[in-house]
Amino acid sequence: MPLTAAQLETFRRDGFLVIEDFVDRRACARLRRRAQELVDAFEPQEVASIFSTTDQEHLTDEYFLESGGKIRFFFEEDAFDPSGALRQDKALSINKIGHAMHDLDPEFGRFSRTPAIADLVGQLGFAEPLALQSMYIFKQPRIGGEVVYHQDTTFLYTEPASVIGLWFALEDANKENGCLWALPGGHANGIKARFRRREGGGVETVTLDPSPWPEDKFLPLEVPAGTLVVLHGALPHGSAPNRSEVSRHAYTLHIIDGACHYPADNWLQRGPEMPLRGLE
Ligand code: FE2
Repeated sequence: MPLTAAQLETFRRDGFLVIEDFVDRRACARLRRRAQELVDAFEPQEVASIFSTTDQEHLTDEYFLESGGKIRFFFEEDAFDPSGALRQDKALSINKIGHAMHDLDPEFGRFSRTPAIADLVGQLGFAEPLALQSMYIFKQPRIGGEVVYHQDTTFLYTEPASVIGLWFALEDANKENGCLWALPGGHANGIKARFRRREGGGVETVTLDPSPWPEDKFLPLEVPAGTLVVLHGALPHGSAPNRSEVSRHAYTLHIIDGACHYPADNWLQRGPEMPLRGLE
């Protein structure tokens, strides 16, 4: 059993759990190398979509909405100069890869289905865990963008709510290079918004609770490479921009419970040809 009773209690109380040394250094290196190979094979001129959570315009982009069952590449907001040319090398301009790496890429698929992950998710009480979404986040040196405070349930919604996030640090994460910040216990206060597909096309954010985040209560989660951070779906979290000279790579996997209802207006949809799979 990977989790002790004390760890389960911490997760219930805080809404997150930090587990150092969950991933060994060699596995971290393998995933970093595989991400680099995926980037090397990617042609940036295929896409002009720029990822930014502070600018929702791109979210109407089909490129994003179709990515639930694909491996797609999203650029940093500051990656392009005013003329539309990349400011720095392609490999240093990509914000993230998403959102079905765990099903389409053999290396990420193998990692996502290691027994330790399935055991841990089983301990958290999932009746039928399904791997919904994966992302490789680069948090590039100097231009790695902010991820504004949010709750994953806003984006990955089930009835009842069931999503958890598994955030794997593949490099050391600290305040300088844009580590996670989280609001301890904030998962107990319900969700503030729901992000969904709009009838007739596009997407919208429906506000459920307009109160502001208590910004001064968020804590930085500075962790070494190899750490797993388990995030309750209602836990408020985010990360600051990376203005340092070092990257902060992370891999994330989001799990929902197949026993819960998955609404047809969730942004992330899979076609019948590619159903969600479990962790086995
Ligand atoms: Fe998140």
